[in-house]
Amino acid sequence: APVNVKKICCIGAGYVGGPTCAVIALKCPQIQVTIVDLNQSRIDAWNSPDFSLPIYEPGLVEVVKQARGRNLFFSTDVDKAINESDLIFVSVNTPTKKTGVGAGFGADLHYVESATRRIAAVATSSKIVVEKSTVPCRTAESMRTILESNCRPGCHFDILSNPEFLAEGTAINDLFKPDRVLIGSLQTPEGKNASAALAGVYGNWVPKERVLTVGLWSSELSKLAANAMLAQRISSINALSAICEATGANIDEVSHAVGFDSRIGPKFLKASVGFGGSCFQKDILNLVYLSESLHLPEVAAYWRQVVDMNEYQKSRFSRSVVETLFNTITGKHIAVLGFAFKADTGDTRETAAVTLIRNFLAERAYVTVYDPKVEVSQMWQDLTEACPDWTLEQLQKYVTIVHDPIEACKDKEAVVIATEWKEFLEIDWQTVYNHMSKPAFVFDGRLLVDAEKLRKIGFKVKVIGRGERV
Ligand code: UDX
Ligand code: UDX
Ligand code: ADP
Repeated sequence: APVNVKKICCIGAGYVGGPTCAVIALKCPQIQVTIVDLNQSRIDAWNSPDFSLPIYEPGLVEVVKQARGRNLFFSTDVDKAINESDLIFVSVNTPTKKTGVGAGFGADLHYVESATRRIAAVATSSKIVVEKSTVPCRTAESMRTILESNCRPGCHFDILSNPEFLAEGTAINDLFKPDRVLIGSLQTPEGKNASAALAGVYGNWVPKERVLTVGLWSSELSKLAANAMLAQRISSINALSAICEATGANIDEVSHAVGFDSRIGPKFLKASVGFGGSCFQKDILNLVYLSESLHLPEVAAYWRQVVDMNEYQKSRFSRSVVETLFNTITGKHIAVLGFAFKADTGDTRETAAVTLIRNFLAERAYVTVYDPKVEVSQMWQDLTEACPDWTLEQLQKYVTIVHDPIEACKDKEAVVIATEWKEFLEIDWQTVYNHMSKPAFVFDGRLLVDAEKLRKIGFKVKVIGRGERV
């Protein structure tokens, strides 16, 4: 019979592990949930008396307030939490490899591996080990091998794949009401029992019909497939946005019309300056790498194009800024509104804003950045990484980070909207206009502002996917 899960350990207190296990604790008061991480300052932030949590996510503080100290704990004592638990989530980071075999494509699995080895080394009783991080197919198999060849006698491990589908900015809602929960297991009696045990945990708040149980590898591949297909929709609509700009069609109208087809559906068809985030590019590159290693070059090329189109969109947008500003931005001053990869998050991983700023800097333009949630230190870190040829001093000569959008736009020739923060809609654009150099340009990379309203004020406005006169 399935284990009745009483204690859960989550290894990795990041964007995935933190919110997911906080919600499990909230919804399952009878289960003790301990989230562990090697990073002491991260754990301290989760435990901070004033709830200044290490990640910004709407609704997360409220969840942690209710559960922390009741049945939700944050700790750096990884071994103790492993040992006490019946079920362990592994939700450590899996960045794209920077060097070695598969560099630039394959996932760096050494965090997963070392967490797995730790479980094998310290566990004194049988556990269900759940792979939660986004990982390439067959990682569960590697985890199983590591656990089986290193565990103590009498310990048995069941491996499950339970990919996370939450999106940043809406994580809490996604966790409260998931479209589906996917659990992959070996189709053996033990595997099915372990799967049923985890399904029982979700059963505390997720309707049964939304908990899908499948084979291990289907589960792993489904995660990559879902992200690849979501990203593909954006690249498809962005490719069409280029046609719109060249012809005078309007991408919003096209998206709307296309999305009305119930087979296509209206969501995720918003043209943009390019998708970002920790998952889309990484997962597609994983899929490309997997396809190549399976000797399926046509399949690899097909998915690769989704990422190529995204790169094209970012450079196309940057070029259009230069062209519109009379073919040179050298020495000009540009305000970039938004730095996060999407609204309602402070996360900047793979954000298009960095690429735009790097492109503007390559032309020796001066850039002033404002974002309501991204930490200033994070912006400097991202920019120094993106511009390896620049020293921090050089960067700081060209880039200014400010805490107010109006100030960001003051005396600038152009404003570039890189993230769809709602507060940019509420900016007093008349005041912005009054304080800008003329002609004053707005480049909307997020289909955010009311272009007609801005034109009435006097702005020249260029919107992604619209071929109209600026
Ligand atoms: C994504 C998946 O949605 C989620 O299911 C998975 O678990 C992790 O990856 P996330 O990256 O957090 O989530 O955010 P998402 O809302 O998917 O946005 C990704 C990027 O696509 C953002 O840069 C966003 O601005 C962009 N995007 C999204 C568009 O450009 N147009 C759209 O229509 C939707
Ligand atoms: C299509 C569009 O559906 C329709 O809206 C448009 O007006 C004309 O083109 P049609 O070609 O008649 O219609 O048939 P459709 O049902 O779309 O199928 C097209 C092809 O795709 C068929 O060969 C079908 O077998 C195949 N298909 C469809 C799949 O292989 N898998 C699917 O999931 C759906
Ligand atoms: P994600 O977006 O996948 O959640 P993050 O980078 O936000 O990724 O979080 C992953 C967390 O996992 C980091 O805080 C990192 O310190 C932690 N981590 C990595 N390896 C281990 C390990 N072996 N033991 C405990 N924590 C780990």
